[in-house]
Amino acid sequence: MTDSSTPEPAMARLDNADSLSFSLPAAALHEAVAVAIPRSTEPPADPAFDAFFRSMLNGSRDCIEILRLDGTLDFVNAHGIELKEIDDFAPLRGKAWASLWPGDARDLATNAVDAALAGRHAHFEAACPTARGNLKHWEVTVSPVPDASNGVEWLVSTSRDVTQRVQMQRSLDAALRDRETRHQTHTALAHAEKLEAIGKLTGGVAHDFNNVLQVIGGNLQLAAQHAREDKALLQRLESAHEAVERGAMLSSQLLAFARRQPLEPVAIDIGRLLHSCADALRRTLGDAIELETVIVDDLWNTLADRHHLQNVLVNLAVNARDAMDGAGKLTIEASNARLDTDQTREDELPAGGEYVRITVTDTGCGMTPATLERAFEPFFTTKTDGRGTGLGLSMAYGFLRQTGGSIDLQSAIEQGTTATLHLPRTLEEETSAVDIASVPVTGGTETVLVVEDDPDVRATAVDMLAQLGYRVLQTSDAQSALSVLDSGAHIDMLFTDVVMPGPVRSVELARRAKELIPSIEVLFTSGYTENVIVHKGRLDPGVALISKPYRRDALARKVRAMLRQKETPEAPRDAPDEPKPLRVLIVEDDVNTRDATRELLQLLGAEVSAVDHAKAALALVDSHAFDVLLTDVRMPGMSGIELARVAKRRQPNLRVVFASGYGLSIASEIDEDMTGVALLPKPFDLDSLERAVFARTGT
Ligand SMILES: Nc1ncnc2c1ncn2[C@@H]1O[C@H](COP(=O)(O)OP(=O)(O)OP(=O)(O)O)[C@@H](O)[C@H]1O
Ligand SMILES: [Mg+2]
Repeated sequence: MTDSSTPEPAMARLDNADSLSFSLPAAALHEAVAVAIPRSTEPPADPAFDAFFRSMLNGSRDCIEILRLDGTLDFVNAHGIELKEIDDFAPLRGKAWASLWPGDARDLATNAVDAALAGRHAHFEAACPTARGNLKHWEVTVSPVPDASNGVEWLVSTSRDVTQRVQMQRSLDAALRDRETRHQTHTALAHAEKLEAIGKLTGGVAHDFNNVLQVIGGNLQLAAQHAREDKALLQRLESAHEAVERGAMLSSQLLAFARRQPLEPVAIDIGRLLHSCADALRRTLGDAIELETVIVDDLWNTLADRHHLQNVLVNLAVNARDAMDGAGKLTIEASNARLDTDQTREDELPAGGEYVRITVTDTGCGMTPATLERAFEPFFTTKTDGRGTGLGLSMAYGFLRQTGGSIDLQSAIEQGTTATLHLPRTLEEETSAVDIASVPVTGGTETVLVVEDDPDVRATAVDMLAQLGYRVLQTSDAQSALSVLDSGAHIDMLFTDVVMPGPVRSVELARRAKELIPSIEVLFTSGYTENVIVHKGRLDPGVALISKPYRRDALARKVRAMLRQKETPEAPRDAPDEPKPLRVLIVEDDVNTRDATRELLQLLGAEVSAVDHAKAALALVDSHAFDVLLTDVRMPGMSGIELARVAKRRQPNLRVVFASGYGLSIASEIDEDMTGVALLPKPFDLDSLERAVFARTGT
């Protein structure tokens, strides 16, 4: 059917596809197509084939375009005109077909034309806007149409509109991605909530545990002071104390996980910190593990608790050492990181902002997904025979969260593990590390007021301080402490538990103490970081804290360091000629009388403490030596006479002056065997006061 004599194929009236007419050569379809690109308007040689071809072009749901060998467009079928939203084909005709494609797609089209010219079928998929500017996606095939001698005569391109399919695929992908993200967020949140719940539980337990340890540890140390000669006993006490220390370490890790560890964040240069703990890390790792630290030049400073951060790094090094089974490489890198808010996820990264990033990478055995999932849980460990407690990473997790940063693990079996830490940046200069350990363990002679509701804990604190030489006053609640502070007694330090029963909170007590005695130092103690003194994971400015359980040495250093500036007034003590002032304790519930009496006695040179009720007086008598007790007789709670009875049992040399509005009539109520008693009828003047208070003492 091929009419090879046809000089030019029959011409289709391309401007109107419905009225196509062809001069068709015969034979195979592609040959037919070849002839379907006609140049003349001669009638078709084979009407049947013409019909077939017309039907194919008109019936196709695709856009069929015929290109000349120079790549220019010559024909578009009716449906193509529709698909490509072509209003006027005339200006397109003769244009380079590839040039009608935008951007990157143009190269694909050019390559396809080249391939077809070389006799191959070429496929590509690309987006191209229609003539009216609507973006559509096309699946395109460009094929050569051979001539009789097997050369290429024409090119035919078939473009299928796959816009709908692409759009559906995209929505499907987006939906899948969305579901995946939601799933991840959900899992992350569930994980964070689980850790949060465990944190609350462990925090509470650790708090009570610390009070217990404080009593045991304190008493062991006090007992050791009495057992200096007995080596065997000392040895036992020491091993008991080591157990207390292990317990303390455990509860401090639990507190760290619960984000209840008292932190003292300071500005730190991580480069310098790593340098200073490199020796400790090397010792931890052993000789067969190489340690490399890489620190960027302009590393920012970070705000964190130095001691706890070092602890975290050592813990990570221990984990790495165990994972590498003694040989391998540990790399610690520190760099600056700016996190975008949308980059950060609830569980893994902190809020967007500037951070110092530390990565700790080992070449160890890595973790299974199941281990990785539970690694931060307290007490989760894969280490057998007591080699691990499973608290290292949980402590690190709590610490980083409390510091306003994050820790994240990447690990795969046999691929090693990387821990990534983010710590908040600070613009502050590095704070020089004050090595509290360098403060000698010495006592002093200053007066410390101990406020603690647990009687056992209080007793050990009082004993420790007394053994160190301090004069110690004690009360069991803030209210009584205020009475003591208000009494005018000379007090150098208030040492108070953070949480106490009663209406006055410890922070309020500290504030009032400062008001009453501006030079007073305030040291808090707690088995738990309370929000009252710790905000956003850091101690409020000017707040000093010693965590329970504390050792006698640690308490000694802390107290000495705080009192260092205000050295004990040794001078008057050393001056031999100067008589000691008379120490008088006034107990009087009427504020005006109390103040007036205090002033009068101070005028007379006495060192005066004044309280408003018997209980507060007894608290003072318990720990503070007095020469004279000047007490009202009728008082709410305990009468002055009863008070005197108890006070004299505790301080037998105490002289008692009863000041009474009932004149001398109360004499009959006073125990006959009570010695050193005087009566001072109210109202009294300076002379009678002096006689009553001083004369009896012979001063
Ligand atoms: N670098 C690491 N490579 C492989 N596994 C690790 C690594 N770090 C932690 N793990 C896995 O996570 C578990 C928990 O670690 P974590 O530090 O909390 O506890 P531990 O090391 O077992 O005990 P502890 O730190 O209290 O001595 C480990 O038992 C171990 O299975
Ligand atoms: Mg560990």
